[in-house]
This record gives sequence, structure tokens and C-alpha cells, in this order.
Amino acid sequence: MKNSFIILFLLSFVFSSCKKDKKQTTAYTLLQPYKFPVFENDVEKGITEEGIALGRRLFYDPILSGDGTMACATCHKQEDGFSDKRQFSIGIDGSVGKLQAMPIMNLIWNEDFFWNGRSKSLENQALEPVENPIEMKAHWNIVIDKIKDDKVYQEMFDDAFPEQEITKELAVDAIAQFEKILISSNSKFDKLLIGEYAMTEQEQRGRALFFSEEADCFHCHTGNLMTDLSFHNNGLDANPKPGLETVTNNENDKGKFKTPSLRNLAATAPYMHDGRFATLDEVLDFYSSGVQVSPTIDELMKQGTNGGVQLTEQEKEDLKAYLLLFNDPNFLTNPAFASPF
Ligand code: HEC
Ligand code: HEC
Repeated sequence: MKNSFIILFLLSFVFSSCKKDKKQTTAYTLLQPYKFPVFENDVEKGITEEGIALGRRLFYDPILSGDGTMACATCHKQEDGFSDKRQFSIGIDGSVGKLQAMPIMNLIWNEDFFWNGRSKSLENQALEPVENPIEMKAHWNIVIDKIKDDKVYQEMFDDAFPEQEITKELAVDAIAQFEKILISSNSKFDKLLIGEYAMTEQEQRGRALFFSEEADCFHCHTGNLMTDLSFHNNGLDANPKPGLETVTNNENDKGKFKTPSLRNLAATAPYMHDGRFATLDEVLDFYSSGVQVSPTIDELMKQGTNGGVQLTEQEKEDLKAYLLLFNDPNFLTNPAFASPF
């Protein structure tokens, strides 16, 4: 009797000391960029150095695709603001999509993902491309089996998620951790705010236009994120595609798409949900005189009936100069965001 107590006592000691030896992860500290919306709801919680390293590798690894040829980064290239220069992305079997790949930057402040907002978290979003038949066309269970057989991943998963079984949920958790640190906040515009850059006269004229009721860009491309994180029909088509309507089943949402950020525009061409505009000049021509009225057109596009806000050539150039202030070369070349392979 006495002996078994001693054994029990010893066993519980061994057990608890095992627990103490459980690997520790290293919390990652997100820096709050100046004049950006404050981080809310503990968004940093759960972001670790080990999780980011794993997510970064997964993001760049074609192991996630059906035939081992395509990574997330194939359509989301860092030098293009993690978007795709091609109008439509092409899947592993050559299928051509109908939408332009969206940039991945400053998404930690977002709550709706995809052009029509059908996904509500980065984790959930990352599940989709892997199995999408016109994208990576794989099966998560097969992908996870391949990852489980890989020595490097065995170690990296154990570092990021000690003592947990490798699952697709943990894989997308890590990918989302990497995406959350893709923050672009070091453009000339950001330097301007801290007194390290002075605007040219042309940029000042562009800024005045951007915030004017006449050109009216600032109501939707709001604040330092340059987006109101909402959905609008900005008048691209007289007979728009469904957009948000697909998600809400509300016909008042027809033609509404997620407002893109206007940061890093120099890198993220082509533009709009279907990549119809190859250059910023084409975008400005559209807002100036190409706006199409439809039942759900946003009331902020009030001058749509005249075809748009009627900018002069000089005003278009000025506006463009202001928009290009948001280019962030550090973001586009930061080695911490580049391929680890
Ligand atoms: C074949 C090209 C392709 C591949 C591969 C791909 N994407 Fe995308 N991505 C797109 C396209 C196109 C969209 C927009 C699709 C839509 O709205 O339906 C998009 C949208 C997104 C968005 C939404 C951004 C926003 O602002 O709402 C995120 C995040 C994203 N992709 C991450 C990933 C991740 C992570 C992977 C790898 C697991 C991946 N993508 C693989 C083409 C691709
Ligand atoms: C009513 C809200 C609204 C207003 C006002 C507005 N935009 Fe937009 N903008 C959007 C939406 C929504 C999209 C995406 C539309 C789509 O793809 O269907 C967009 C797309 C863009 C894009 C393409 C970005 C990309 O990555 O594809 C640029 C550039 C742009 N807008 C600049 C401007 C400028 C400059 C003005 C002022 C002249 C302006 N916008 C006014 C809502 C608005």
C-alpha cells in the first residue's frame, strides 16, 4: 500500500515535470503603426515567431497544390504587393479564373475577405484556394499527409504548436499568422505624417482633390488604410455582376465589391475585381467619365449621371501623384516577407 503511494507520487512528479518541459513558443510583438486604426480584440494573441515561420514556409510551398507546382505565392507575389500582375490567375490545370488576385497587406484590420466578402477570417479564407478546382486543386487530407511525412514540417509544427497533431486547422492558423504581419506602413505618406517627407506642389494639389467633394475619393478610400473595409457599387457596369449579393442574397447588394486599399498601387496593377484596367490612368479616366449608372450604384457616385467626376488632364495627373505617395518599397522588398526557400 505504502509503496503504491510512493509510486503514484513519483509518477505524478514525472508527469508534472514533463508538462513543465513542454516547448515554449515566442510571442510576436506587433508594432502599432502611427495613425493606423488601433489593434482591437487582442488580434496579436496567438501570433508567435514559430507560427509566422511555419506560415511563411507554407505560403511559399507548392506542397499545398494538387500537382506540387503552385504555392499561394504563385498568385500573390511580394513585389506586386502580394497580388498578381496577370488579369486573371491561372490554376494548376490551366483553368483561368474570373477575378483579379487581391493584394495581401494590412489585412489584420479586415473582417471580410474576398471581393464578395464570403469569408470572415484569414484562417477560413486560406482553406479555400487549396481545394479550389481552378486554383491549387488539392485535397487537404492528402496535403496534410504529405506535410506529416516531411521532417522539416514535423519540427516546425512542433515548434509552433507543441504536442498537437498536425491538422489543416493548424496549417491555416500559421498561414494567417504570417499574413497578419504583412503590414505596409512605411510609404512617403507615412513619412509625411512624422515630418520626414514634404509633399511636392503637385502632390498637394492631388491631396486636395482626393479629399474634395468634387472628386470624392475619400469617402470610400478612407483613413490610413485607404479603405472603409466595406462594399460598394462604384459604377463599373450598367449591368453589374452579383458581388456581395452572392453572399447576402439581397438584390440591393448587386454589384457591390470590397473597397480595395489604395496603398502600393504602383505594384498592384491591374485594377478592379476583374482586373479590367491595366493602368492608373485608365482608372482615373473611368472615375472621370466612364461611370455607368445601375440600380445599386453608390450614392457617393452621385455624378455618375454625368459619366463621372469630370477631371481635367492636369487634375488626373495631380491625383495620380498623390496616390503614388502610398507606395512602400520597404514592404515590397522586406526580406522577412520573402520566400524562405
Ligand atoms: C491561382 C491563383 C491563386 C492562388 C494559388 C491563391 N490565391 Fe489568394 N486570391 C486569388 C484570387 C483570384 C483572389 C480573389 C478571389 C475572390 O474574391 O473570389 C484571392 C484572394 C485572396 C485573399 C483575400 C484578400 C482580401 O483582401 O480579401 C487572401 C487573404 C488570399 N487570397 C490568400 C491566399 C492564400 C493564403 C493562398 C494559399 C493557401 C492563396 N491565396 C492562393 C488567387 C489565388
Ligand atoms: C462609392 C465608393 C467609392 C468611391 C467614391 C471611390 N471608390 Fe475607388 N473603389 C471603390 C470600390 C468598391 C472599388 C472596387 C470595385 C470593383 O472592383 O468592383 C474601387 C477601386 C478603386 C481602385 C482600384 C484598386 C485596385 O486595387 O484594384 C482605384 C485605384 C480607386 N478605386 C481609386 C479611386 C479614386 C482615385 C477615387 C476618387 C476619384 C475613388 N476611387 C472613389 C469604391 C469607391
